[in-house]
Amino acid sequence: MSSPSKTPLILSEVSDNPVTSFRRGYAQFWRFLKPYALWALLGILLTIPIGALDAVMTAFLKPFMDKVMVGQDQQFASMVPFYIIAFTVVQGLLLYFAALINGWVGGKIAVDIKQALYKKLLSMDTAFFDANSSGSVLFRFSSDADTASGGLITNIKLFLTKFFSSLSLVCVLLYNSWQLSILAIGVLLVLVLPMSIVRKRIKKIISQSMKKSTKVATLYNETAEGSRVIKSFNLRERMYRRFSATMDFLFRMNIKMVRDTNWLAPSMHLITALGVAGVLYFGMHLILTGVITSGAFVAFLAALIMLYTPIKSIGNNYINVQQALLALDRIYQILNTSSFEERAQSDKQLKAIKYGIAFDSVRFGYSAGREILKGVSFEVKVGTKVALVGNSGGGKTTVCSLIPRLYDPDSGSVTIDGQDLRALDLKSLRSQVAVVFQDNFLFEGTVRENLLCGREGASEDELLRAVHDACLDEFVKRLPEGLDTQIGERGLRLSGGQRQRLAIARAILKDAPLVILDEATSALDNRSEKVVQKALDTLMRGRTTIVIAHRLSTIMDADEILVINDGAVAERGTHAALMQKDGAYAALYRSQFARVRSGASEETADAESEGVKS
Ligand SMILES: Nc1ncnc2c1ncn2[C@@H]1O[C@H](COP(=O)(O)OP(=O)(O)O)[C@@H](O)[C@H]1O
Ligand SMILES: [Mg+2]
Repeated sequence: MSSPSKTPLILSEVSDNPVTSFRRGYAQFWRFLKPYALWALLGILLTIPIGALDAVMTAFLKPFMDKVMVGQDQQFASMVPFYIIAFTVVQGLLLYFAALINGWVGGKIAVDIKQALYKKLLSMDTAFFDANSSGSVLFRFSSDADTASGGLITNIKLFLTKFFSSLSLVCVLLYNSWQLSILAIGVLLVLVLPMSIVRKRIKKIISQSMKKSTKVATLYNETAEGSRVIKSFNLRERMYRRFSATMDFLFRMNIKMVRDTNWLAPSMHLITALGVAGVLYFGMHLILTGVITSGAFVAFLAALIMLYTPIKSIGNNYINVQQALLALDRIYQILNTSSFEERAQSDKQLKAIKYGIAFDSVRFGYSAGREILKGVSFEVKVGTKVALVGNSGGGKTTVCSLIPRLYDPDSGSVTIDGQDLRALDLKSLRSQVAVVFQDNFLFEGTVRENLLCGREGASEDELLRAVHDACLDEFVKRLPEGLDTQIGERGLRLSGGQRQRLAIARAILKDAPLVILDEATSALDNRSEKVVQKALDTLMRGRTTIVIAHRLSTIMDADEILVINDGAVAERGTHAALMQKDGAYAALYRSQFARVRSGASEETADAESEGVKS
């Protein structure tokens, strides 16, 4: 039996001990590369002739020079220009096909990584979403995949091309003069030193700037979602300051990156210049003493300059590889997180509820050290209605969230028909429960699409009946395009009451035997609450229901009322019994009754207008 995790993965915390070594990074990458291994291999094989053809031009220089000068074989020498053009055309074609293959493989891998990540995201525990900002989700699940796949594929290709090109150029060097080759290759080895220094610095800076980049994404998201609050609270300047401060920080990080890493290219320049200078100096001696021909020397020099050129630019290439490997590392941190939903399949399918649902001494806290539910026990018999009332923050919503297993109890148990929820197949459990939350999430799209979330493939008749039962027909009739009207992101173009009724219609369509209503009418004024209450009564009819009510008038008929204060059941009984007892419930009831009377005129005044807001 596995449970949702209490210590979720925190996306903004980059692990201090990344697996960022070339060997391990690429080993992990293999999993995604594998399905396209043949194509990737072809792309890699193409880099061999592409790289090697670099050396062709220089290899021809020696025979050309020597033969033209000595004048023995003018005919061969006159063919050399044509050979060079032919080889370059071949190289160009190969380059094109290699780019095509690499683009395809790279794109496929990026898609696969994103799909794997998204699948993981969907199965993440509730606590994960409590703990992580939308910005960090965006950053880690989308940008990282691009950075990793794009960076690695391009750089594997560049690296291999440069490797084979260097290898063939080194052959040209050795062929022309082994003495000078020792000098030139010795200089190459010195280049490794600055590269390893830069590597360490990049790692440090990237993990610092990542946290802030995440922050930027969150700010964009909050600005879009919170635009109404930002405007009405005059937060434009405040938001702008936060944004600017973050951007300034990122700028400083970028400059630091440039300052700490970009000396690499010039210092490589200098070292290679020293190499060329040395070759010129000793080459002169070798020619004068007759050790090598002047043709060999020219060919050597050309090959050497061609060899040094990519190496000078390898610095930037190298920075990209490091960034890609770090992104890959973060991706694996996510993919290797175990999520309980992936493991919560079981043979025990919940097909129906026969007897009821029971909480037995349930204790629970969102985080260790702060217990929210302190031993809650109650039972809901099938077909009955149990109401939870109590102070705000007492733990009512928490109780309800244990039923679809958004969280699991720390101790005690929740059972349906005597079976612990943890033993049941998660999907089948959730298919038996319909929840209407206080703050219902609607998806961007049409009314119809949102209704169909309740039950995929519902017929037109069923949709219309649900709309009717949720008292939405008036509203839908007035919509310009009826059920196919767009409702905006999170249903922003609807009023609070319309949103709640749409959520109720969605729950009606789901037609689940267990219904949970968590303050489902709280967003409504008195008049629309009456309308919605009618919808809720339809939804509850004949079903097992747990109702959290902020207005006690709606739950007076409940089979049992539980007063939950401070995470424990303070009182329980029917309305009549609790009133007679004259305890916490009676006090709550009286205070609300007084409030309703004094606020009555005000509440009828804000009767809701129908129709989509423009
Ligand atoms: N996701 C969460 N993470 C941490 N604490 C939470 C979370 N949700 C609620 N709480 C805390 O749990 C307590 C009970 O909350 P809740 O069950 O929503 O109360 P009620 O629904 O009775 O108003 C509150 O003190 C609240 O701060
Ligand atoms: Mg609540």
